[in-house]
Amino acid sequence: MKMKQILAAIPAALVAAGLASAAPGTVLKGADIIDFEDGKVLRGQVVAIEDDKITYIGSERRLPDGEWTEIDLTGATLMPGLSDSHVHLTSGANVHGFRRLTRSTSRAAISGVVNAEITLLAGFTTVRNLGAPGFTDIDLKKAIDEGEVVGPRIIGAGQSIGITGGHCGDATLLPYEAQRRTGGRADGPWEVRQKVRENKKYGAQVIKFCGTGGVLSPNTSINAQQYSLEEMKAIVDEARLLDLKVAVHAHGPRGIQSAIEAGVDSVEHASMITDESIAQAVEQGTFLSMDIYVSDYILSEGEAAGILEESLAKERMVGRVQRERFQAAFEAGANMAFGSDAGVYPHGTNARQFSKMVEWGMSPMQAIYTATLSNAILFGLEDEIGSISVGKSADLIAVEGDPLRDTRELEDVDFVMKDGVVYLNEINQ
Ligand code: ARG
Repeated sequence: MKMKQILAAIPAALVAAGLASAAPGTVLKGADIIDFEDGKVLRGQVVAIEDDKITYIGSERRLPDGEWTEIDLTGATLMPGLSDSHVHLTSGANVHGFRRLTRSTSRAAISGVVNAEITLLAGFTTVRNLGAPGFTDIDLKKAIDEGEVVGPRIIGAGQSIGITGGHCGDATLLPYEAQRRTGGRADGPWEVRQKVRENKKYGAQVIKFCGTGGVLSPNTSINAQQYSLEEMKAIVDEARLLDLKVAVHAHGPRGIQSAIEAGVDSVEHASMITDESIAQAVEQGTFLSMDIYVSDYILSEGEAAGILEESLAKERMVGRVQRERFQAAFEAGANMAFGSDAGVYPHGTNARQFSKMVEWGMSPMQAIYTATLSNAILFGLEDEIGSISVGKSADLIAVEGDPLRDTRELEDVDFVMKDGVVYLNEINQ
């Protein structure tokens, strides 16, 4: 309704004089819209897009005259573009273990270009890239924003920050005499502050650090805390000074607890989160970004993809626990994000996680909410993305089936629009 007034307010004289466009934009007709704000489905809607924004939503077509580009989505379900709060676009699912030693930063960047397009065409119009060699994710973001490369909106962390010998990059398989200091390595409160400043300087929009060991890093324990509380507080404090949010990688309970205490915005993995930490996360509004699908890939395809036995053993310990803790956290009312860790498993299959979330207690609506409005709030972009609303960016996807009945429909989307540009349309064709 609001939009009707705005559109009506464009004086016809301006249009006639060529000062306002007579070919205003795109109209999507006939789709059912899932409204995640109040959990309803609106049938047969008309959605208008001008430039990169949604400017009208209604059951009747009330738009000014002009040569609108019409797209018939009758019978399809239209949704906000999906987002993923944890991907690694420059990583490949078949490059694990020793194979990683063969990857140069530039080779990773080339993969990033390919994976960005795959990710967008899978319906993920926004991703947080939580860790990339060099600042390849930031350069990829720039190339996408400049229109040179096709891909999602990226919120990039640049280089993850981690302790000497920690999960974030530094624990290579190289012997001592061949060791390599990775870009994000920092020890002590002032060194970590410097890394936060450096990341900001080179374009990071979120800070990622590792607060425990990991599954895929040799010689790290998933239980062990990495960084003291003092160092974690320094990271978060410095990030706040620079207006950046903080995501922590953490599997074990102590690292998770300290990171929440330090005030991070999201805990990635959160595999062994205790009831006490869940309660504190609920109180503080900390988001939990629990990648509960990836375990299936690691345990079935991991060995062929180069994952070492040491890592497979860790995954066997943590996979099921993480799913149980996911259910506990969700039931306790924690803010749940959608983070998949795609890159460990194939890009473009991010959506496989939805059915896991449903298997472990969420309704399809709740699962999809995590990848739309919930993530948007975590990113601080809730005024721009995450729902189909007038004034928000025209990031929209559609599927021919009903994802509220079966979230697997989202594993093969049929229509993708980002910033008002259509990248895929297989509906009614
Ligand atoms: N990148 C993560 C790590 O190495 C992957 C963890 C995957 N496992 C899981 N259950 N979420 O720690």
